[in-house]
Amino acid sequence: MPIVNRVADLHTEITAWRRDIHAHPELLYDVQRTASSVADKLKAFGCDEVVTGIGRTGVVGVIRGRKAGGKVVGLRADMDALPIEEATNLPYKSTVPGKMHACGHDGHTAMLLGAAKYLADTRNFAGTAIVIFQPAEEGGAGARAMIRDGLLDRFGIQEVFGMHNYPGMPVGQFALRSGPMMASTDTIAVNLEGVGGHAAFPQLAVDTVLVGAQIVNQLQSIVARNVDPLQAAVISICVFQGGQTENVIPQRVRLGGTARSLSPEVRDLLQKRVREVVEGTARLYGAKAELTYTTGYPVLVNEERRTAFAAAVAGEIAGKDKVNADCPPLMGAEDFAYMLQERPGAFIYLGNGDTAGLHHPAYDFNDEAIPVGTSYWVRLAETALAG
Ligand code: NI
Repeated sequence: MPIVNRVADLHTEITAWRRDIHAHPELLYDVQRTASSVADKLKAFGCDEVVTGIGRTGVVGVIRGRKAGGKVVGLRADMDALPIEEATNLPYKSTVPGKMHACGHDGHTAMLLGAAKYLADTRNFAGTAIVIFQPAEEGGAGARAMIRDGLLDRFGIQEVFGMHNYPGMPVGQFALRSGPMMASTDTIAVNLEGVGGHAAFPQLAVDTVLVGAQIVNQLQSIVARNVDPLQAAVISICVFQGGQTENVIPQRVRLGGTARSLSPEVRDLLQKRVREVVEGTARLYGAKAELTYTTGYPVLVNEERRTAFAAAVAGEIAGKDKVNADCPPLMGAEDFAYMLQERPGAFIYLGNGDTAGLHHPAYDFNDEAIPVGTSYWVRLAETALAG
């Protein structure tokens, strides 16, 4: 079963929606234009219920099948863009300075809308398909906000599925894995205070630049020496701010970065050791360190049975040899992880072809992937809800 025929007919329409969203990017929870356009379309498709304002600006559409029985399955897309200046000359390029759809959430939203249109039209299934459009995937935990607003209980959602485009993987291919597939991401912020002074008299100062440098080095020993070499972990310090002048030892330095892992045990270990290393190193040099360690998105864990199911559905669309059902995990993060903590399900990557990478100013979602992704959603709902 290749591309679903009726989905192929919707390709032009879905592409137009995608490009309209692309031209009007919105950030985090401020996705009012996108959300109201999504809600209007879901109503026009004849969804049984369209509910807005879940998780502030999230939108949910309820589509009931015409056969008796069946379960309730949630299909999720994200709607938000990024604070990046678009560097393309596309006719539908961003009309908003400093904002662009550089992660393909425009494509995700358009494909799920296409699936909703098809499913509301045909209703050739038992049970209920719930289409979920969330805000604030890019760092705002919009999925968690929707869950806290009752998303899963209110609509009785039993299983959840998500999808993300994947630059560098050919269009028409899918990849996923059972178990941990994307990392937990926690934030490290350190304010160091020493004693500032003249660069010529370091004996009278406590040099926060040196202390900061030692901390950056020592933190890498956590990954190298504390974490089991067969487990995954990343610590990246990406902010090192301090000093303005060549002959002044600064009183304060600020460090910032990220700690990522693929298991709760390693995640806890990183948090414990980062604190010990930061505070211990500062003490060694007589500086004061104030560490703020903020837990972010959890590890994204695909449930085994639903992963096999999702891989089988993808195989029907793309051909079995075009589905990598055991792809390596990534240390990137994704807030669909919150939904997978609450309900069994699977997240899948959709090939975006040879495009610029995610979050790059020249990135563009590949419209050739639309029939593939939309057919996946349609076939997944019809198969999961076969009754
Ligand atoms: Ni994304």
